[in-house]
Amino acid sequence: MRRYVVLLGAGVMGQGLARHFHRAGFQVAVVDPNAEALEKLQKSLPELTIAQDLAALSANWASADLVIEAVPEILSLKTELLARAEAFFSAQVLIASNTSGLTTADLCRNMRHPERLAIAHFFNPADVIPVVELVASAQMPRERLEQLTELLRGSGKEPAVLHREVPGFVANRIQHAMMRECLHLLDQGVADAETIDSIVRWSLGVRLAFTGPFGQRDLNGLDTHLNIAGYLYPDLSAAQTPSATLQAKVAEGALGRKSGAGFYAWDQATQARAQAAEAALDALILQESQGASSAAQQGGQN
Ligand SMILES: NC(=O)c1ccc[n+]([C@@H]2O[C@H](COP(=O)([O-])OP(=O)(O)OC[C@H]3O[C@@H](n4cnc5c(N)ncnc54)[C@H](O)[C@@H]3O)[C@@H](O)[C@H]2O)c1
Repeated sequence: MRRYVVLLGAGVMGQGLARHFHRAGFQVAVVDPNAEALEKLQKSLPELTIAQDLAALSANWASADLVIEAVPEILSLKTELLARAEAFFSAQVLIASNTSGLTTADLCRNMRHPERLAIAHFFNPADVIPVVELVASAQMPRERLEQLTELLRGSGKEPAVLHREVPGFVANRIQHAMMRECLHLLDQGVADAETIDSIVRWSLGVRLAFTGPFGQRDLNGLDTHLNIAGYLYPDLSAAQTPSATLQAKVAEGALGRKSGAGFYAWDQATQARAQAAEAALDALILQESQGASSAAQQGGQN
């Protein structure tokens, strides 16, 4: 049975989501006021339906299986759009927000039926990274959350349902704790960005991909971890505001890959390296998932 997904936003995440759901065999529509972003995306995926406003989508999309909001992380923009989405899509359509850390209670502020809303936090690149963190609104019935979980699993994702809501969910809390320390090390002149990246990639990064933090600590020994934590914690950054270096970069428009400069100059060589890294990651994930499914099949035969 053909499945239908509508994406609100054709930015970094909307583009990755479009590629993911298209590859999974879904019929995909993307809504974004930015005509240029839509046309660029449609060039790479000609089967895509595009519209600059929800009202311009044909009525048959109102009974899509899933709507995912992926517009900028501005609460008022999201609440206004979610209320419009609720009015446009039929009552049974699941509505998900790809927010990086806003709560369902805030997001459903203007909705008449908050039981339709969940957070589905995909990771960039959305067509490559398997996990999606899921948080149901307090009003969402368990069966609806299960329906969303199954739909995402059917598209090839690994849904991870949180027991309760916290700002930033799991991954962004960990990512921001790590980045606060990285920026602190940079600001203290301990090492430059390239060196910090190299250390993290070729030590913590590769290890964590195969074990996760708890599994990794079990390998190292919890007594050793406790001894180090005892003297190190007082020396770690506990900054309560974002780093001045980060604020300055954003103020000067150095937003990273999408603006052509960030911690790195995004010239052709850097672009090519990032694309090769994304392709390598995609291949690694595919190989791991094939390994896991053949191990599961063998287990079933034994
Ligand atoms: N970039 C990431 O790595 C990442 C990862 C996970 C989650 N997120 C979250 O996903 C969401 C989108 O992030 P992004 O990085 O794709 O942002 P982005 O700025 O790249 O793209 C946002 C897009 O939304 C469009 N838009 C603005 N108003 C709209 C409206 N009313 N209707 C439809 N489209 C509209 C913009 O034109 C733009 O194309 C944010 O909530 C962000 O926090 C981002």
